[in-house]
Amino acid sequence: MPSSAILGEARTNYVTLCHNDTQLYQKGYEDNYKPIIKILSSIISPSDSTSTSSSLPAGAHVLDVGCGQGTPVGSFFVEKGLDVTGIDMMGSFIEEAKTELEKRRQNPNQKLLLIHTEMLEFEPPPGETYDLILAVHLFYHTPVAEIKAMLLRFVHWLKPGGLFFIASSLPEEFQDRKLWAEDVQLYFLGHFYTHVTVGSPEAWRKVVTEAGLDILQFKADIIKRNFDGELGGGNDTQVCLLARKPEAAEEDSALFNPLHGPFPLVPREHVGPEVDHAGCKTLYAHMDINRILDDVAVALKERSANSVGYIGLDLFNIDKENKWSDNITAFDLNSESNLPSDPTALLFFWALHRRHLLTHFDELSKKLGKHLSQVKTVITVQAAPDSEGFHLLNDAMHGLPFHPYHHGYVLHFMEKRFKEMGFVKVKYVTSEAVFRFGEKEGVTDLEEKIQIAVTLLAGTMKQPDAQDEEGLKNINAFKKNLEGLTRALFSHSNGVVRNQAVLLIADKEA
Ligand SMILES: C[S@@+](CC[C@H](N)C(=O)[O-])C[C@H]1O[C@@H](n2cnc3c(N)ncnc32)[C@H](O)[C@@H]1O
Repeated sequence: MPSSAILGEARTNYVTLCHNDTQLYQKGYEDNYKPIIKILSSIISPSDSTSTSSSLPAGAHVLDVGCGQGTPVGSFFVEKGLDVTGIDMMGSFIEEAKTELEKRRQNPNQKLLLIHTEMLEFEPPPGETYDLILAVHLFYHTPVAEIKAMLLRFVHWLKPGGLFFIASSLPEEFQDRKLWAEDVQLYFLGHFYTHVTVGSPEAWRKVVTEAGLDILQFKADIIKRNFDGELGGGNDTQVCLLARKPEAAEEDSALFNPLHGPFPLVPREHVGPEVDHAGCKTLYAHMDINRILDDVAVALKERSANSVGYIGLDLFNIDKENKWSDNITAFDLNSESNLPSDPTALLFFWALHRRHLLTHFDELSKKLGKHLSQVKTVITVQAAPDSEGFHLLNDAMHGLPFHPYHHGYVLHFMEKRFKEMGFVKVKYVTSEAVFRFGEKEGVTDLEEKIQIAVTLLAGTMKQPDAQDEEGLKNINAFKKNLEGLTRALFSHSNGVVRNQAVLLIADKEA
């Protein structure tokens, strides 16, 4: 399965190509936008009526993800007087979108915000939620696991009752696919694009439903790609799907979807001071971590790395004797005392998604200073995007001050930074580990497994005294919410949660 890191290059490629082809794209796809605008028109309430469950309220705020140059979709909502935030990873598109949307502004109070960002990195400003999120022809360079993760994020960002609209095309070359064509090559506008993902109408229906949204409108039209033959003309099936986030349901109602939050589950002050390390350690102790440790051991051995700086969880002492080189030194970023004197390899072990990457990187470069020139290999261990379910739970539980980075993004960032530093030979290895935090000998009942997991997870909180009414109330509310989340995760797996690790191994050229 490709991770977003692997897609790093494909995305860069895409940015360059896309920029050159804008006019061709817009001309070739004119017809595609007719069914899209038709559905979007149906959700605009006439100014003299109130909104309905399938229409937008007056003054609604729209988030257009992958907004491109802002026309014809974002601009449609600006003309209706609504607030629009557009995000896109291409800076030049964002600049053009700013001009296009400003031109159509209806009133001085209308909020128009355009942000140049990779969507994986985007977090709405604190407290901001949206009435409508758009993903129009967005996901062609996103692996399926990451699409699923993004949909869950979108659902968090929507108001209860908020709307989600997606349009995406399946080119005729892939019509035989029942669900996805992933990591394929596509000839389009005279170029070969690699690592492409395209989904069938059924695939979109399935992922949107699995994210807990109710489908309101669903259309699949055959649309001609209106290009000259040489540029890759043909027919596409374009899916347009409008869905709605259910109104917030009571926790004990069948409609309650724990993956929709509230997040964080527990305010920061109720998390024990030891949680960052001890809490993780408790969880990871319930994980079949040996496969990952073995993969790291193989990579270190192949490189005869005998002086390794380890940056990561406090797991280090659990297994190093058995698995890793004798000469690994744990390097705590907060103290320079144990900095290895002549490291030939660096190992980042699940250490990065909770840190501010840029600051962390600068700090690290400063501390390692001249030693960095001796380092020949950097290994970064993070998780694959489809481990999202577990991470959502873990993150929510810790009530983090900021949303942790997506693991795919961390890998993408590390690949880029280390390539710039001369570690140009890049390889990815995936291993699969399993969390068994609901398992206990002799226990087969799913509900009992949920209780075991909840007790374990709640054990990472500050434990209140018997007289501390407020504390007891908090911990009970936390457990109740956690029960829902755990049940949702376990319902597919009977108490075992898969967690795929991805190792990014970057070597300097020999
Ligand atoms: C085919 S264009 C569609 C633009 C616009 N939504 C429309 O329909 O006119 C896809 C857009 O999504 C953006 N995009 C793709 N992947 C993205 C990502 N991971 N983060 C942010 N933007 C992304 C691209 O830069 C591009 O502008």
